[in-house]
Amino acid sequence: MGEHKRIGILTSGGDCAGLNAVIRAVTHRAVGSYQWEVLGILRATAGLMHHPPQAIKLDREKVELTLTNAGTMLGTTNKGDPFAFPLPDGTLSDRSEEIISGYHELGLDALIGIGGDGSLAILRKLAMQGGINLVGIPKTIDNDVAITERSIGFDTAVNIATEALDRLHFTAASHDRVMILEVMGRDAGHIAISAGIAGGADIILIPEISYSIDNVCHKIKQLQQEGQNFCIVVVSEAVCTEAGDKVECLVSFGERRYGGIGHYLAERISASSGAETRVTVLGHTQRGGAPSPLDRLIASAFGVAAVDLIANGEYDRMVTWQNRQVMSVPIAEAISQYQTVDPKGTLVKTARGLGICLGD
Ligand code: F6P
Repeated sequence: MGEHKRIGILTSGGDCAGLNAVIRAVTHRAVGSYQWEVLGILRATAGLMHHPPQAIKLDREKVELTLTNAGTMLGTTNKGDPFAFPLPDGTLSDRSEEIISGYHELGLDALIGIGGDGSLAILRKLAMQGGINLVGIPKTIDNDVAITERSIGFDTAVNIATEALDRLHFTAASHDRVMILEVMGRDAGHIAISAGIAGGADIILIPEISYSIDNVCHKIKQLQQEGQNFCIVVVSEAVCTEAGDKVECLVSFGERRYGGIGHYLAERISASSGAETRVTVLGHTQRGGAPSPLDRLIASAFGVAAVDLIANGEYDRMVTWQNRQVMSVPIAEAISQYQTVDPKGTLVKTARGLGICLGD
């Protein structure tokens, strides 16, 4: 079917559930339908930077039992921009040409890059510079890639956060406590608003809507007056302090990540309202677990569509999920925007309609 091709596939940025499902779908479509060769590049662009480039041949047998596995069988990295790559002596070096050489050395006709907006921007820059025939697939628990309604991994993360809320309800009610659940999502509140509604939260704080501790405590008091002795709060990791400061922690070599807003809120809430308050930080559990059926479905649809784009010679495009269909858009269009929660959108309206306090 058509001319023979050798294509590469890599996973880049933070992992999430559903990456193996998409690797499997790409392999099935490329090897099964087109009889092409598929090389899985190890540890994202690091595998191409390596001499010789590090890649494994993927066939149906290798991917057969991977549909339900979390993580990525290829490995990944969310550190080290290849255009300003940190060297052990602390200096930065442009290693883009090494990656481009790796792609050509493997004799690839095209590359499928599975990543979030940051990874796709880097991959596109490499593709433009080095003549790489790139097709992008959006994945991220944060669901912040523009245009596509869904990215791989988001649904599973929402399921995990919702399940945590279900569990917190009973212990909160048993102890008359305010329970705060801090969820991930980077600069967007998609996980918080979705899981918060699905998990019956009383208060949801997201970075897109500013809040005050007074409003939060007012809601807690109101619930008590109505006879509810507990309160469930969901907060997105990127929510700032009341003064507008980010709450972050140092992870390594000067790299910072969001984390700690739950504990900040707990102190303020208990000081202002006297309520006994506890915090659960879900963290990386949101990236693990077997992918939900929806994530498997989207991963499968994206994988097939990405291979078909290559078959049609349509490069520099990212597959998207729009109006119940897989479509594609120029990668440049997707990475030029950042998809946050629309403060006037359906989910915010739904939350307000349910009487959920959004802190404002
Ligand atoms: O982008 C995915 C994500 O899990 C974010 O929600 C979070 O802010 C970040 O990655 C955490 O990164 P790391 O895995 O480096 O701690």
